[in-house]
Amino acid sequence: MSDIKTTLTTAPKALPPSDQLGFGQYFTDHMFVAKYMEGKGWYDAQILPYGPLPLDPGASVFHYGQALFEGMKAFRQADGKIVFFRPEFNHDRMAQGAERMCLEAPPLDLFMQGLHELVKVDQRWIPHEPNTALYIRPTLIGTESFLGVRPSRETMFFILLSPVGSYYSEGTKPVKIWTEEKYLRAAPGGLGAVKAGANYASSLKAALEAKKKGYAQVLWLDVEHQGIEEVGTMNVFFVFKNEIVTPALNGSILNGGTRDAIIELLHSKNLPIVERKITITEVVERLQKGELLEAFGTGTAAVISPIGELHYQGKDWVINGGQTGELSTKLYNEITSIQRGQMPDTQGWITPLV
Ligand SMILES: Cc1ncc(COP(=O)(O)O)c(C=O)c1O
Repeated sequence: MSDIKTTLTTAPKALPPSDQLGFGQYFTDHMFVAKYMEGKGWYDAQILPYGPLPLDPGASVFHYGQALFEGMKAFRQADGKIVFFRPEFNHDRMAQGAERMCLEAPPLDLFMQGLHELVKVDQRWIPHEPNTALYIRPTLIGTESFLGVRPSRETMFFILLSPVGSYYSEGTKPVKIWTEEKYLRAAPGGLGAVKAGANYASSLKAALEAKKKGYAQVLWLDVEHQGIEEVGTMNVFFVFKNEIVTPALNGSILNGGTRDAIIELLHSKNLPIVERKITITEVVERLQKGELLEAFGTGTAAVISPIGELHYQGKDWVINGGQTGELSTKLYNEITSIQRGQMPDTQGWITPLV
């Protein structure tokens, strides 16, 4: 597949004010859509004016939840160049997720072609200001219409674009986190390691209840309510006096692109980063002993989100005096400077728009 049919909108929207973008509130003028059918392959790749998708109400996505998505960003660098951050990582993760979800993954060339063409068409939407970006949402859904549980023989791949500012209303300020002991996001053998829509459906109630209690996100534990998994929609890092720990990828944790980049940066600085199981009991014990210096979440949306307060079993534990830590600041500055072209991309993370 190499031809993408493009139909441009006749009613381009007004750009939202870039100081009021928030996260995911606006969509651009166009979207990319391609279809797959067993026996036919990928067909009908198009860039279309942004709008509703015609879907049969019997489509498997509505009944059996066959939905998988990605989250990535494009940036406008200081010299005007438009770049993507590690798009191959996202394609690779989508392909692995599609295998688990019994959906057809778009081949790398279709994914990249759709991405580049769509961003080119909608490039006026990429904001200029610091801490802004174009968030990219590639999505896969099962579209075959049938009843009776089995994998869909048809898949739709689409890409949406959204100009964004800060993910949290707090910006990059430390957030308050609720350790969740009632609800689970994922379990071994389930979908936790892939970006299935179902994981987010599963997480909504806990997040809502935590918000009502005044917490920005939840800290997800494993089925034993001991092992730490993730924080909200981010991976999590704990900076102790003698080591930096992030939970090992155990099959129910998402392999975050930001997590992966942070681990690589820490290795390059010869800092003692360890991927292992870490329990909430260990974190609280070491916090009490004054050994926990910083904790932060990592993800495409916020990059680094410092944890200022951690609630566990009726007590609020303050981390680093509720302030953003030195390492969190340094890592945030480095990743965002590489993304913005203000620091050399020695890791090969940046792909220019062609
Ligand atoms: C559940 C979950 N964990 C971790 C992450 C972080 O992944 P990434 O760094 O690739 O954005 C995300 C995505 O944003 C997520 O939804």
